[in-house]
Amino acid sequence: MCGIVGYTGPREAYPIIIKGLKRLEYRGYDSTGVALQNGGLKVYKKKGKVAELEDSIVGKDLHSNVGIGHTRWATHGEPSDRNAHPHQSSSGRLAMIHNGIIENYNQLKKELINKGYTFSSDTDTEVLLNFIEEIKKNNNCSLEEAVRVALKRVTGAYVILLLDSEDPETIIAARKGSPLVIGVGKGEHFLGSDASPMLEYTKEVVYVNDYELAIVKPDELILKNLGNEKITPYVQKLDIELAAIEKGGYEHFMLKEIFEQPQTIYDCLRGRLDATEGTITMSGIQQYAEQIMNANRIVMVACGTSWHAGLIAEYIFEELCRINVEVEYASEFRYRNPVINKGDVIIAISQSGETADTLVAIENAKAKGAIILGVVNVVGSSIARMSHAGAYTHAGPEIGVASTKAFTAQLAVLTMIALKIGYIKGTIPHKRYMHLLKELQEVPEKVAWTLKHSDNIRALAEKYKDARDFLYLGRGYNFPVALEGALKLKEISYIHAEGYPAAEMKHGPIALVDENLPVVFVATKDSYHEKVISNMQEIKARKGKVISVITEGDDASTALSEDVMIVPEADEILAPMLSAIPLQLLAYYIGVVKGCDVDKPRNLAKSVTVE
Ligand code: AGP
Repeated sequence: MCGIVGYTGPREAYPIIIKGLKRLEYRGYDSTGVALQNGGLKVYKKKGKVAELEDSIVGKDLHSNVGIGHTRWATHGEPSDRNAHPHQSSSGRLAMIHNGIIENYNQLKKELINKGYTFSSDTDTEVLLNFIEEIKKNNNCSLEEAVRVALKRVTGAYVILLLDSEDPETIIAARKGSPLVIGVGKGEHFLGSDASPMLEYTKEVVYVNDYELAIVKPDELILKNLGNEKITPYVQKLDIELAAIEKGGYEHFMLKEIFEQPQTIYDCLRGRLDATEGTITMSGIQQYAEQIMNANRIVMVACGTSWHAGLIAEYIFEELCRINVEVEYASEFRYRNPVINKGDVIIAISQSGETADTLVAIENAKAKGAIILGVVNVVGSSIARMSHAGAYTHAGPEIGVASTKAFTAQLAVLTMIALKIGYIKGTIPHKRYMHLLKELQEVPEKVAWTLKHSDNIRALAEKYKDARDFLYLGRGYNFPVALEGALKLKEISYIHAEGYPAAEMKHGPIALVDENLPVVFVATKDSYHEKVISNMQEIKARKGKVISVITEGDDASTALSEDVMIVPEADEILAPMLSAIPLQLLAYYIGVVKGCDVDKPRNLAKSVTVE
């Protein structure tokens, strides 16, 4: 997601825009730019944060009463000066910023190139802008009409703000699938991805809806649908504070990001998974499909939560692709002088794409001839650039130090890669393949269901917040989820917690069990379930407090548990994307009741770029 700001009115536009962009940096910050109407269009943009842009244009003539600004979270085209927004049309007459993904931009780009257009960036935004200019030129129509015609042709999500040097006081805006708020002032209007850029100037706002187009002048706001029918703007008074907006009304970024997961998993699948056609489109993986299929082994390399995603991927890839998979801590892999053979495939998993241990580990492996695939969240990050190919997780900026939405997005991407490779290799029966695609497509709504049925977890946090130790147990696909649940609790609440394979308890750790030890079982219905029930009985017999993540309607586990957290039925391969959610919430609420800084836990950094 990106941050957008616009202003038209009697004030100086630049200070309003730059301050608004700083407030929106939580939405993305890899590059930024402004366009100002000042005797023609003045566009300033660069890679880096808003403050860096600001420093770079000190002394320029920034006088203007109309302008737009953008802070980017790259999806198409890596972070760079030329890919930063605003983009200008071929004629230079138009400038536009965009938040969203135009899914059919490749098709539109081909059409424009055939008409002689050239492009200065790799972005879908520049394609849409020139498509609008081409329609205006071809149909000899108004810019507003050209925008309407163009938006009927595009698929995907967008918010656009558009300036025309020949109509300097007007901003044309439109949205579908990304947020747009218009602030109504006296003889002035403000635009933003949320209300934070305008809150200090006006609390009267209009939330623009999908398929609506706004023509915004200092003293006029016209709202229309794409059928050119006028809509009466519904002006409402905001009573929300600035700090709350950035967190979307949630108390912490971590909670916001946990609740974003239905959307972020959907965004991860969008444009890639087609359960009807039975296709998975991942161009980065496609080009290496042969090498992956024929690899002697796949090595997952990562740290922390990303390493847990790799452990789950080991089970998935071995099940679906019948390829030997190893999972390595990057910090160990980089120093151990591992045996790497040409043709080995390394999958580097990283939210930040900047984790030093993972970066060096793949540099070493690449130098020995391995093929490096990146599963990364930050577009254009070091690990992404070091990789031969890969697939982005499209989870948007993850601000909370504890990784939540990035983790489930990693699982979604890794599952799609395994399904794609297994299908090509013929190691997945067609019926099971189609069933898994259909179930994968349903994961976002199952995550939403899980979140909707999580109200009891806050009370569990109160009940167990004083425990000195926790044990997290699981089997099969849920064993790494147990590790992840334990890590979440440790890093957010500072309570010692250990994840373990449930069957390993009898080899020592069961000595820990007494009436003071909460034992969290990740016990969703799967092929291991009967065994997990026995493990629960072992713990219960020793007075351990059994807390279970269970599949809705699992009476056997419920009977053995002191408390339960419920997820809907799902194939065991996909269940970790659900069973991780209650564990994220349990850690969050315990951290909150203990008064911990859940977004910035002590001793931790969001990205460990040092050894
Ligand atoms: C997870 O909650 C932690 N913040 C940490 O373990 C993190 O997963 C690890 O540092 C790896 O980071 P990366 O995914 O950005 O490479």
